[in-house]
Amino acid sequence: QTQRIAVIIGSLRRDSVNRKAANALVALAPGHLAMEIVEIGDLPLYNQDYDEDPPAPYDVFRDRIRAADGYIFVTPEHNRSMPAAMKNALDIGTRPPTDNVWNGKPGAVISASPSMQGGFGANHHLRQTLVNLNVVCMPKPEVYLSQAFDLFDDRGQPTERCQGFLQTFLDGYSRWIARQTD
Ligand code: FNR
Repeated sequence: QTQRIAVIIGSLRRDSVNRKAANALVALAPGHLAMEIVEIGDLPLYNQDYDEDPPAPYDVFRDRIRAADGYIFVTPEHNRSMPAAMKNALDIGTRPPTDNVWNGKPGAVISASPSMQGGFGANHHLRQTLVNLNVVCMPKPEVYLSQAFDLFDDRGQPTERCQGFLQTFLDGYSRWIARQTD
């Protein structure tokens, strides 16, 4: 049975290495995982005053997240945490509290950074937030794409080594999703 997986990218940058990683994942995905990137760049900053009459992009985003069977978060690290755009999207999906659109679905986190640490801080801050979203987060395989600018060529194609990491991740995620949605 096909599972719909929403892929959320924490960078808004045109040449984002995290977007390259997300695109590579979508290209490598097995047939039973229908992966779709859900954009977060046009979401106004969350404001509780909007709960009664949300801006249109909130409705579109919440509907797409609700319709997904699982999530993959691909995040850069900004000052040892996830970028504000990613946190904003996570927050928008949790309000109003009676209608947390993430609730109970399985997810996984990948981080990519030009640094040696591969966005470890962002990866784990995001995992912390997923607890409160009630997203069941895959523990392993962990993916920290370090020195990530060297992992993709000029056309955004992953190196063989990087493709190997992503393939291992996808194999684990496939099994994880199957177990969580039995
Ligand atoms: C960064 N960057 C960064 N990198 C890192 O490994 N740890 C960090 O704490 C930070 N902090 C940080 C803060 C801010 C405000 C910016 C703009 C950048 C560098 C970051 O890894 C780099 O810009 C990546 O290219 C971001 O990923 P994308 O946009 O290429 O996907």
